[in-house]
Amino acid sequence: MALPSPDIPWWRSGTVYQVYPRSFQDSDGDGVGDLAGIERRLDHIVALGVDAIWLSPIFPSPMADFGYDVADYCGVEPMFGDLAAFDRLLAAAHARGLKLLLDFVPNHSSDRHPWFVASRASRTNPKRDWYIWRDAAAGGGPPNNWISDFGGSAWEWDAATGQYYLHAFLKSQPDLNWRNPDLKRAMFDAMRFWFDRGVDGFRIDVLWHIVKADGFPDNPVNPAWHPGITERDRLIQQHSTDQPEAHAIAAEMRALADEYGGRLLIGEIFLPNDRHARWYGTPERAQVHLPFNFQLIENAWDAATLRATIAAYEASLPPHGWPNWVIGSHDAPRIAARIGEAQARVAAMLLLTLRGTPTLYQGDELGIGQVDIPPERVRDPQELRQPGIGIGRDRSRTPMPWDDSAFAGFSTVEPWLPLNADWRTRNVAAQDGDPSSMLTLYRRLLALRRARPALGLGDIALVEADRDVLAYERRYGGERLLVALNLSDEPRAMPFAGEVLLSTLAGRDDGLRPNEGVVLSPSPRP
Ligand code: GLC
Repeated sequence: MALPSPDIPWWRSGTVYQVYPRSFQDSDGDGVGDLAGIERRLDHIVALGVDAIWLSPIFPSPMADFGYDVADYCGVEPMFGDLAAFDRLLAAAHARGLKLLLDFVPNHSSDRHPWFVASRASRTNPKRDWYIWRDAAAGGGPPNNWISDFGGSAWEWDAATGQYYLHAFLKSQPDLNWRNPDLKRAMFDAMRFWFDRGVDGFRIDVLWHIVKADGFPDNPVNPAWHPGITERDRLIQQHSTDQPEAHAIAAEMRALADEYGGRLLIGEIFLPNDRHARWYGTPERAQVHLPFNFQLIENAWDAATLRATIAAYEASLPPHGWPNWVIGSHDAPRIAARIGEAQARVAAMLLLTLRGTPTLYQGDELGIGQVDIPPERVRDPQELRQPGIGIGRDRSRTPMPWDDSAFAGFSTVEPWLPLNADWRTRNVAAQDGDPSSMLTLYRRLLALRRARPALGLGDIALVEADRDVLAYERRYGGERLLVALNLSDEPRAMPFAGEVLLSTLAGRDDGLRPNEGVVLSPSPRP
């Protein structure tokens, strides 16, 4: 078997596991998860077989957007613990060989951040220009037509100083002005603060949003908009996102990360392939290592679509760009809710056998499916502002069910969001020793991926197969592995001859059973 070179960075063959701190483990009985809780549950993450944890924001925050509204970039939200608790968690993760990534939120802060409090105090405050302030339009009203991602105008009037400020998300999340050199320096200092403490990298929130076109022109109207989708999509975000200056800042962030050596930057970026690929930068002036690829979440779940998605994405990558795939997050519907549990097992195999760094989201390893949130328990500000179009994010943020004790072992009190209705049977303890559980499947897939460089690092070639079957080969050095996924609930022909190393189902069959995925080692060629 070809041994990977020691020069290959860990994150190429590694797997990232997203922890949503509010919902992982509560250790102090307030119904909300915390850092000490995460530390207590690290062994679950190690046993799963991932390489890195990415923590959604842990910084002081009024929690208007559950931590994505940061009031201090260099602190820890008291609800989650303190810097000492963070240092303990980091040391405990490192002691177990796990990397730890934080979530950097550069586009906006909380309106309670002291910078914004100063900025809105007067037009002449030295921090005025750290945010984006504009006069009303000539005839009155907002400076342009931009719409907040959470609905409504992206501009909020400030009566005290007689100007509007920009907010791409909630009005309590004012956008920072990255064209101001002092603000930029302060944000880079925040990155250094955490790098100096030893964090292994950042997931960077809405990176493609951070600079807006000079002159703030109106965004074009989207002809495809209809009332069933979010208000944001009324416009094409041509001038409010993906500006050349944002790429330049990403390159500076990367240079900073490279100064520290071995640190990883993942950018949250939603764009079509050609523009998405530009976020890798060039070999001479690299940007992020991994621009998050959400296409498995966004695209239809059928073999033809997936095949076309994989081919187009692979073809779009620059030669130095390493792919990555995401199948769940705190923003997206749960994969098992979207495609059903049987196909969620196939999805796990797809995610962990494709070429590229996979990111798993907590709870997907248990196959948590649809969780219905009663109206009185809805907490997601996006859902509260635009009810009825099915965009609620709470259903993916419910607490981890650890066992069948009270509150699923997550807390000693009623948690901030309800548990999955089937938590008494769908929990970590119940799935731990069960050979047919989703958890066992994830562990096996991750172990196989670790053991086989063809899966972790190899090339990929799509292979023709029966209708509804997605098939591909992975190769690294002399090692070759075959993957066949049946996306239908009927039997299909097996496209390969070989020995099955791992199936998503128990037992064996000559063909591909309904909803079955297999990894095979090819039979020697005659
Ligand atoms: C990102 C986060 C999301 C948040 C938004 C605004 O998309 O993932 O949860 O609401 O940015 O910060």
